[in-house]
Amino acid sequence: MLKHTFNHIDSYLTAHKQYWHYNAFPLLDYPSFENNSELIDLLESFDDTALKLYQQNPSLLYPILKKVIPDLLAIDDQLFAIEKRNKQVQSDIPFWLKNGIKGRKWVQIDQFSDHVKGKLPVLEWCAGKGHLGRLIHHKTQVDVSAVEWNESLCEQGTQLAEQLQIKQDFSVANVLLGEADPLLKAQQHVVALHACGDLHVHLIECAKSSKTQKVTISPCCYHLTQHEEYRPVSLYAAESSQLLSSIHLSKQDLKLAVAQQSTSGERQTALNDQEVWWRLSFDCLQKSLLNTNTYLNVPSFPKTLLSADFHQFSAWVVETKALDIELPTDLTHFLQAGLVRFNRLRRCELVSQFFRRPLELWLVYDRALSLQEAGYQVTLFTFCESHITPRNLLIQASLEV
Ligand SMILES: C[S@@+](CC[C@H](N)C(=O)[O-])C[C@H]1O[C@@H](n2cnc3c(N)ncnc32)[C@H](O)[C@@H]1O
Repeated sequence: MLKHTFNHIDSYLTAHKQYWHYNAFPLLDYPSFENNSELIDLLESFDDTALKLYQQNPSLLYPILKKVIPDLLAIDDQLFAIEKRNKQVQSDIPFWLKNGIKGRKWVQIDQFSDHVKGKLPVLEWCAGKGHLGRLIHHKTQVDVSAVEWNESLCEQGTQLAEQLQIKQDFSVANVLLGEADPLLKAQQHVVALHACGDLHVHLIECAKSSKTQKVTISPCCYHLTQHEEYRPVSLYAAESSQLLSSIHLSKQDLKLAVAQQSTSGERQTALNDQEVWWRLSFDCLQKSLLNTNTYLNVPSFPKTLLSADFHQFSAWVVETKALDIELPTDLTHFLQAGLVRFNRLRRCELVSQFFRRPLELWLVYDRALSLQEAGYQVTLFTFCESHITPRNLLIQASLEV
């Protein structure tokens, strides 16, 4: 069943790669979308009010977009449906267990922990302060331990566990260097809530070789990987040359899988928009003043710069990148050129947003298949609502004994 759904999602994404597999940021015009000029005309026809409406309500855009991309599937198409096993938040949990854990994080931890059953000792991977492990202990009384590379988080977690009189050992270890590999045992349930990219991929590899009996992972940040190009986790995805993996997923593609606009507040969205606009404007500026066609990557910068003006921002980039540029006093022209690019970029995203969930599912199925190949029974479901966290997928794997 996993393979069946994976194949369908794979064919769909492969057939429509022109709508999502590109880096819109450095482009000076719309991508050609394989000569789908009707699509470009349609996107150009949207004013800013329509843009905002469709960003926030893709379902309203779907019937309009389908006229120019006939095979487009709705975001909630059956192919992308995942069983929901979201439980209610438990109100009878003592308040002292919730101390210091903010609203949505608490709900995630509470709902994730409901899926950790049985008597096996639990190891929490990339645990932060180990809140999840302590709640699992409260609900099941099993032994819990945690691995985390940040010493200070481990100390804080240890203190919290002592205050609550819960035995919870923390190991300070960089999991990517294999320092935590010896902690994985066969008689164990290893759990990872939002361990990013390589952190959860390493866990999957390690659990397979240690034959760890139960594995429960909610993956996130697939782009946080040391590899420039995506490396499939399962043999199935790696070996079949017709699959999406053969088109070489870039980090940009992997970022699309976790891109989301809906949960940011209005002020954050406005700041993000300004940042993208200024970055693009600066690119127009440097191309013109350095007489080049090459895109220049601006490094991340202190967000206080966004409350300055564009001139100060540009001066900061010029200095940081040691560019041979004498800034003119009036930069209005570049801001206008940047705005044109910004508007195109956001309109392109109206299309690519329809491929975000399928891409994320493709990545999650790849991980699930890899565990299945190692003999695990694997189930995939959501553990909480998407407004609590958009990364709400849970892979649960169990070795038959
Ligand atoms: C996104 S946080 C998730 C924390 C916790 N599981 C939660 O959901 O609240 C990822 C955690 O992984 C830890 N981490 C990052 N790189 C690591 C590494 N190489 N080895 C061990 N832990 C790492 C971070 O310090 C952080 O606590």
